[in-house]
Amino acid sequence: MRKVSLDNVKVGNRIALPIFSLNNSVLLARGSELTPEIINNLKQYGITEVYIDDGVSENISVPEFIKKEIIHETKNQIKKIMDNLSIKTSTDGEFILEIVKNLIEEILQSHQVIVNLSDIRSIDDYMFTHSVNVAVFSLVTGITLGLEQDELKNLGIGAILHDVGKVRINDRILKKPTSLTVEEYEEVRKHTVFGYEILGNSENIPSVAREIALYHHERMDGSGYPYKLKGKEIPAEARIVAIADVFDALTTDRIYRKKMHISHVVDYMLSLSGKHFDKKILEAFFRHVTNYPVGTGVVLNTGEKGLVFKYNSYSPNRPVVRILIDSNGQKLSRYRELDLSHKPDYFIEDVWNI
Ligand SMILES: [Fe+2]
Repeated sequence: MRKVSLDNVKVGNRIALPIFSLNNSVLLARGSELTPEIINNLKQYGITEVYIDDGVSENISVPEFIKKEIIHETKNQIKKIMDNLSIKTSTDGEFILEIVKNLIEEILQSHQVIVNLSDIRSIDDYMFTHSVNVAVFSLVTGITLGLEQDELKNLGIGAILHDVGKVRINDRILKKPTSLTVEEYEEVRKHTVFGYEILGNSENIPSVAREIALYHHERMDGSGYPYKLKGKEIPAEARIVAIADVFDALTTDRIYRKKMHISHVVDYMLSLSGKHFDKKILEAFFRHVTNYPVGTGVVLNTGEKGLVFKYNSYSPNRPVVRILIDSNGQKLSRYRELDLSHKPDYFIEDVWNI
C-alpha cells in the first residue's frame, strides 16, 4: 500500500486501510473502490490523504506503531472528557491516568522506530487526535530520556490535557480559517493560564501536569508565553510537550494551512534547536522520527525514484526503498529493493508525489 493525496488519487483506486469517523464507525472499508462521488465525500470530511493498494505498492505494508484500536479508544475517551460541560471548571485525573497507563504499555511493547501517527484523520477531530499524538510523542521522548514510571504518568496526563484551557476560548476564534487579529491571538494565548486554572480545580491531577498546561508555549530563548521564561526555568516536562506539540501541529492539515512534509518540519525544528527547543530533548525525539514513512514516494540523489518499502530501526532515515524509476527517468519493468543502510553513497533527496 502507499499513501496518496486525495488530489492525486485515480477513480478506481482501492482503499488499503479503512477510514474511520470519530465515533469509530467505518466511513470507508478496506478494498472499497474510489468513485468521483466518494472522493468528493472524503474531501467534505476534511480528509486529504488515503492509503491505496496498487501494482507498484504490492507487498508494502505500513507497520503500526500503536494499535489503531487503542488510538481510537483513546480519542473517544478524550472526546468524552472534553465534551463534558463541567470541564470548563474542572476534570478528573483518575480517568486520564488509565488512558496514559495504556499508552505507556503500548509504547513499551512496540518495536517500531516510530511513529507514523499520520493515520488518516479528518480536520474536525483535530483537538482529540492532537491530544493523543502529543501524549504519544511526549511519552516516547520521556522513555528515551530515561524518565521513571511515575514521571512518565505525570508527563502523559499533562500532555493529554496541555490544551484543555481552549475549552474556554470561543470556537469562532479557534476555528477561524484566516489569520487572527492581534486581539484574537491574545485571547488564544490565554488557554495556558485557563488550563492551569482548570487543572488546579481538578481532582487527581499532578502538579507537573498543571505546569505543562501553563508553560508548553514557553521557549528556551524567552520568546514564548505567557511569562517569557528561559531555559531551565521551564520545567523539563513542559519542554518535552512543547516539542511534541509543534511537531504534531506542523505535520497535520489545519483549516488555515496545509501540513508540511515531515522532513521539512524536522529541518525547521532543528534550525530552532537551543532557541525555541531544548537541544537534548529534540535530539531524543528525532531519534524516533522517520522523515519518510513506509509507502512514501521518494527521490534519491542518483535521480532514481521509488517507494519506501521498510524501515531500518537503527537508521530511521535510511530505509529500504523499492525503486520504480531509474536514473534516466525510465520505468523499470521489474522493481528492485535497495537497502540504503548498506549504501553509504545513496540518500533520499526529496519527496516524490507519485
Ligand atoms: Fe497550546
